Amino acid sequence: MLISPLTHETVPKVADLQRVCFPPPFPADLLWTRDQLESHLQVFPEGQFVATADGEVIGSASSLVIDEDNWTKHADWETTVGGHRFSRHSQFGTTLYGADVSVRPDWRGRGVARALYKARFDLVCDMGLVRFGTACRIPDWLTWSSSNPGQDQFAYCQAVASGTVTDRTMTPLVRIGLSLVDIAIGHMEDPESGNSAAILEWRP
Ligand SMILES: CC(C)(COP(=O)(O)OP(=O)(O)OC[C@H]1O[C@@H](n2cnc3c(N)ncnc32)[C@H](O)[C@@H]1OP(=O)(O)O)[C@@H](O)C(=O)NCCC(=O)NCCS
Repeated sequence: MLISPLTHETVPKVADLQRVCFPPPFPADLLWTRDQLESHLQVFPEGQFVATADGEVIGSASSLVIDEDNWTKHADWETTVGGHRFSRHSQFGTTLYGADVSVRPDWRGRGVARALYKARFDLVCDMGLVRFGTACRIPDWLTWSSSNPGQDQFAYCQAVASGTVTDRTMTPLVRIGLSLVDIAIGHMEDPESGNSAAILEWRP
């Protein structure tokens, strides 16, 4: 398995991977199109990574750099990244912001996300940034909340961060080294996550 920069040649494969990795009920209109992935290459090529094995794309990670005040607001996804073309990318920002990470289902649990995250953390260090930050889906919230009435998303994220509850998306990121900072209610349309996200960060 190899981690390398996104290229024009791998853009179509990453667009296909999105559809495999974010099935319904995740909204299809939130998935990257080829055109949008090309715009990420124009805006910030250093922040776009793919994982490949035997010439196939098995994982991808998209990032931009955002300003400190943008990071501390923990606003919704659209506001934070500036839509699908990363219009809030700032070359003078403090935070490498993870817009997405995905690994092909048959490659999960084999260290692909950890390798993509190593590339992101190395970039934070190389650019002298303050942190890596992201808003992470919490897709097992919906099931958990039905058996834990009265407990909110923050209680859920604290339980996942402490390791007492497992979330199929947040747990891997916690294991990789990200820490819980906050939660964002109404972060994006994502029914399984209650439209919420865990705000996570990693500092060098
Ligand atoms: C979340 C995701 C990227 C993780 O990718 P992955 O390649 O399977 O993760 P890794 O194999 O690198 O695992 C990292 C750590 O998490 C653990 N882990 C992975 N999947 C897990 C799961 N479902 N439950 C609990 N722990 C898990 C691994 O054991 C590993 O921990 P360890 O090294 O301490 O043993 C992948 O599941 C995915 O693509 N999900 C769908 C897309 C998505 O929701 N992306 C996130 C958007 S915010």
